[in-house]
Amino acid sequence: MSSKTLNPFFTISEVTMAMNSTLDPDQVLEMILDHSLKFSNVESGSLMLVNSRESVLDIVTYRGHNPEIKKEIRLKIGQGITGIVASSGRGMIVNDVSKDPNYISIKKEIQSELAVPLIVEDMVIGVVSLDSNRINAFTEEHLKIVGILANQAALIFKNLQTFRRLEQKNKIQQVLIEISKIVTSSLDLDEIFQSIMATIERSLKLEKGSLVLFDESSETLRLVAAVGLSADEIDKGVYQLGEGVIGKVYESGEPMLIRSVANDPLFLNRVGYLDHFKNDPNNVSLLSAPVKSEQSIIGVLSVFLVHQKNMDTQTYLDFLQVVASIISQAVKIHHLVDEVKKEISRENVLLKRELKEKYKFGSIIGRSKNMEKLFEKIQLVSDSRASVLITGESGTGKEMIASAIHYNSNRSEKPFIKINCAAIPENLLESELFGHTKGSFTGAVADKKGKFEIADGGTIFLDEIGEMDLNLQSKLLRVLQEKEIEAVGSLKVKKVDIRILAATNANLETLIAEKKFRSDLYYRLNVVNIHTPALRERTDDIPLLTIHFIEKYSKENNKNIKGFTREVQKLLALYPWPGNVRELENIIERAVVMTQNTMLDENDFSEITEKLSSMNLPASKVSEDASTDLSNGLYSMPNLDAIDGRALEVVVGEVEARLIQYALKKFRYTKTRVAKFLGINRNTLDKRIKELKIEY
Ligand SMILES: Nc1ncnc2c1ncn2[C@@H]1O[C@H](COP(=O)(O)OP(=O)(O)OP(=O)(O)O)[C@@H](O)[C@H]1O
Ligand SMILES: [Mg+2]
Repeated sequence: MSSKTLNPFFTISEVTMAMNSTLDPDQVLEMILDHSLKFSNVESGSLMLVNSRESVLDIVTYRGHNPEIKKEIRLKIGQGITGIVASSGRGMIVNDVSKDPNYISIKKEIQSELAVPLIVEDMVIGVVSLDSNRINAFTEEHLKIVGILANQAALIFKNLQTFRRLEQKNKIQQVLIEISKIVTSSLDLDEIFQSIMATIERSLKLEKGSLVLFDESSETLRLVAAVGLSADEIDKGVYQLGEGVIGKVYESGEPMLIRSVANDPLFLNRVGYLDHFKNDPNNVSLLSAPVKSEQSIIGVLSVFLVHQKNMDTQTYLDFLQVVASIISQAVKIHHLVDEVKKEISRENVLLKRELKEKYKFGSIIGRSKNMEKLFEKIQLVSDSRASVLITGESGTGKEMIASAIHYNSNRSEKPFIKINCAAIPENLLESELFGHTKGSFTGAVADKKGKFEIADGGTIFLDEIGEMDLNLQSKLLRVLQEKEIEAVGSLKVKKVDIRILAATNANLETLIAEKKFRSDLYYRLNVVNIHTPALRERTDDIPLLTIHFIEKYSKENNKNIKGFTREVQKLLALYPWPGNVRELENIIERAVVMTQNTMLDENDFSEITEKLSSMNLPASKVSEDASTDLSNGLYSMPNLDAIDGRALEVVVGEVEARLIQYALKKFRYTKTRVAKFLGINRNTLDKRIKELKIEY
């Protein structure tokens, strides 16, 4: 087929239409080369694009040459026929290469060459080069028509490339919106990082992100989060300042792009990421951006980019910098949370350790002086046979102590029988204690053993002993004296070996004075007296008890509650606990069941706050004190000379600190309420408390 058989105008419109029908810029380049070869009726050729960074022509596609050409031939702009066309912007024909000194041979068979530039807006973006094994293969018409085709192609190519980049930018924008939402979704840095990376990998050609942070203790950069690495591999990620890409980016504070990780000595491959790109490591770039917090650089964010043609790497690098700043927010939050968590868990660990030590007496919790004495006493009396009278307010643990005495005694293998003297009707209590014979009273249809008999060799615990009627008191006294029992309706007596423990929250001495309780029984029972202190007399124990009940009820309710805040601790210490430990236990149980938090905070104890406000008890007293304090003047003038240069800051700061302290007391450390009172938000309040070093 000769060129004359092809109508050049038909060729131009046909090729232009074809090129316009694709959306792929690379395909446009393929098309223009094919049509130019066809139109010029020659066998081989190539298409090159200007690589302005390195001032060379990169071969993008070729026909009729062997594949080595792509690697071997890299003409400099201005060098060889193609290079000259690239620099001059004018097409050229060389119809006998042996006569042209500028010609650089790429294949010895070639005799003629035609080269035309691809021009967009006066810029040469590439060259189409055709060659032939014939001398005089090209005509002026070839030059003209291929030139026109090349310019059409260049324009379409550039438009498509711009379109691609816009598309890329659009995508990036969407990814950024998604990422910024992720940051607020969790408090866990690794979790945030992984989901940010997952979002990026899903939408963009970026892969295997990693985050390195400066570690103050070792003064190195350490890998803290990475996609697709095991914990061992992550441990290998330690970089000295200035070392490798990461060290350099950290030091300079500037982002960096490594075009091809396989060929760049700056890329250290310390954690073995290169193994993940075995297929084509030459085509993988590394993008690294500094992570900045306020003015300082705290780490480096890196991500790999698998190269494709027409990729706008600069846009990706800009993108990475935005991601780095989003991640720096997450790091900041993470540090804050970490600090608070550490402090609280340190406190809670101490409490838990103490809890274990104090488990000696079943589950009686207490570390206060009062409780220490009590434990000693239990230890002392356990092995004796002496009767023990346990006195104390309701809910202080009297029953627990009774069972601790029994189980710490040498009777622990024998029965521990509990009788609640208040719960059993008076007329039945006697038979309950001593048993009865069949028919001894209406309803006594069979012989029944009394508790004293059942407990033989063990311990009987008479709870609420103050409620026992006088008649029964004398019978009980006899048992204690004679150590023998007589069942109701029976004439026989039985020897028993019983230890008696009794408890009451009534004041037996008052009852004696009122002739409601026998004094001789009282002395019999009260051989040893154990008094359980009210909870308000041992507020030191409240945190320990609180953590104990949190553990107990978390387990029971399948919840994972780690502890309680310091505000809660303060609140619980203020409350007078009329129902003692029982009341505390109930309140903690309710809080554990109701809360959504993993850490109980003051909002889980609104019940206590409300009770306190209606009580006008210690807490309100505190606020009255604070109020008088405050009305005495918020501030007394210091030596102003001493604060020269900082007078405003010092004076205002001190007034502010006192006001905050006042409000903290007044609202019982409920910070939300304090902030409302002061008319600032909760975060500002925390910030000021920290800045002003307010202790409370
Ligand atoms: N020191 C303590 N450590 C752990 N739990 C305690 C302690 N003291 C009391 N409790 C808990 O408080 C609740 C009340 O305790 P207990 O029944 O022993 O009190 P009590 O003094 O006998 O009260 P009442 O006079 O009303 O009978 C129990 O559920 C117990 O588990
Ligand atoms: Mg009791």
